[in-house]
Amino acid sequence: MNRRLFCSIFIAFFVNILFSGCTTHNAVMTFNKEADRTVQTGFEDLKAIVVYDSWSGNTKLIADEVASVLNCPSVHVDSAGECVMEDYDLIVVGSPVHGGMPTDKIDTFLSGLESVKASAVFVTYGAPLFGTLTANACLNSMEKKLHQTSLGRFKCNGFHKIFRTYPKHPDEEDKSEAARFAAGLMERFFYDDIQESKSLQK
Ligand SMILES: Cc1cc2nc3c(=O)[nH]c(=O)nc-3n(C[C@H](O)[C@H](O)[C@H](O)COP(=O)(O)O)c2cc1C
Repeated sequence: MNRRLFCSIFIAFFVNILFSGCTTHNAVMTFNKEADRTVQTGFEDLKAIVVYDSWSGNTKLIADEVASVLNCPSVHVDSAGECVMEDYDLIVVGSPVHGGMPTDKIDTFLSGLESVKASAVFVTYGAPLFGTLTANACLNSMEKKLHQTSLGRFKCNGFHKIFRTYPKHPDEEDKSEAARFAAGLMERFFYDDIQESKSLQK
């Protein structure tokens, strides 16, 4: 075997390993039981909003799914200035991961938030190999700006236009996981009320 052929096989093998994880289903959600929750409102009165940025539509898909479960508006960050954020009981913020960070617009939006009652964050990400690490770093940086008010976080893959990884993501499974995340947020939000009504039923 000549050297050129050997190198080609080696590179093909490496690229295959690098991208082999990039087609699998990989949505992950976690909830924060310690979050501050300074709201007292009933199921029917919950006023929530989803604010997102999205360059190629992936994060918007998840934002719309979360908003449909929360029965609330899904607003692009460019239009968020038209809403008075202090009026909302729950603010859910979504961003694509860009270099391990949220987009500049989402970062600026988060920095400008005052007196958040309850929040949650989500990202879509698509980098091979270190994608999960960058998504976690991005979620950490978003939650840091929300000062202990985040009830939960969600991440799933989104087709990366440059690397061509995770084609067709977010897919139906990602969307149903996002819906489950939104339902989990409601449960988290009304946790004390649910516990109370359970103990009353006993
Ligand atoms: C400029 C740029 C930087 C990116 N940086 C990262 C990154 O650091 N980590 C990652 O996992 N994905 C990265 N991605 C991939 C996107 O986060 C991913 O494809 C996302 O789903 C795009 O969402 P959108 O369609 O809502 O813009 C990057 C994409 C672009 C265009």
